[in-house]
Amino acid sequence: LVASFQPKVLAGKRVLITAGPTFEPIDPVRGITNLSSGKMGYAVARAAREAGAEVLLVSGPTTLPTPHGVRRIDVQSARQMYEAVMGAVPGQHIFVGVAAVADWRVANPSDQKVKKQEGGAPPQLRFEQNPDILATVAATTSLSGWPYCVGFAAESENLLEFGAAKREKKGIPLLVGNIGHHTFGQDDNSIVLFDETGHTVLPRAPKLVLARQLVSEIAKRLEQRSL
Ligand code: CTP
Ligand code: CA
Repeated sequence: LVASFQPKVLAGKRVLITAGPTFEPIDPVRGITNLSSGKMGYAVARAAREAGAEVLLVSGPTTLPTPHGVRRIDVQSARQMYEAVMGAVPGQHIFVGVAAVADWRVANPSDQKVKKQEGGAPPQLRFEQNPDILATVAATTSLSGWPYCVGFAAESENLLEFGAAKREKKGIPLLVGNIGHHTFGQDDNSIVLFDETGHTVLPRAPKLVLARQLVSEIAKRLEQRSL
């Protein structure tokens, strides 16, 4: 019901969103993952849908319900998320990467459960770097002009400096920063928007309120771009 009161600033737009953590297997019963509840990404999906967009959510493992009217593809690993996203990118107007993607996967996962050896040495894990989904999508934008890319970054320190640098490194017009780990799993957050003109602080508020503000900021920038 609330949805119908939101201004339809993204009517006719297709929006692709990643959310949640990724999970990188060690063996069939174990893996490594990142801390992320998925709440912020799901809130962005809901807010984009409320704003009239057609929304596709590519989600790592979470316990959250799919927002009303949103199409969802579930994945586990970063490589699966990469495949799902790259397959869906053509025709999208906006890409928002909210997922906490594991930077590395286990290079030598075992097909069978690794057994503990009495008095033996613990298993050695080797890591390989995962593809950078956001940077790859941003590179396709430079060819066709679409989709408009938005990144998220959780930093533990120096947010203003790291956020601005990360936006440039990723080659994206808009990056959303927050000071991480305190906010993981919480319903509230406070975020900073970085664009080519500098940064804007959105003060602490429920994630859905911030997501709606972000959606209106994205819509505003898309409109400016097409003038
Ligand atoms: N991201 C991605 N694919 C990856 C890693 C990150 O799409 N393999 C996206 C995230 O979804 C987020 C943005 O990139 O939107 C920033 O992620 P972050 O982890 O902060 O940046 P990294 O470039 O991985 O740098 P680092 O973790 O070393 O700070
Ligand atoms: Ca990372």
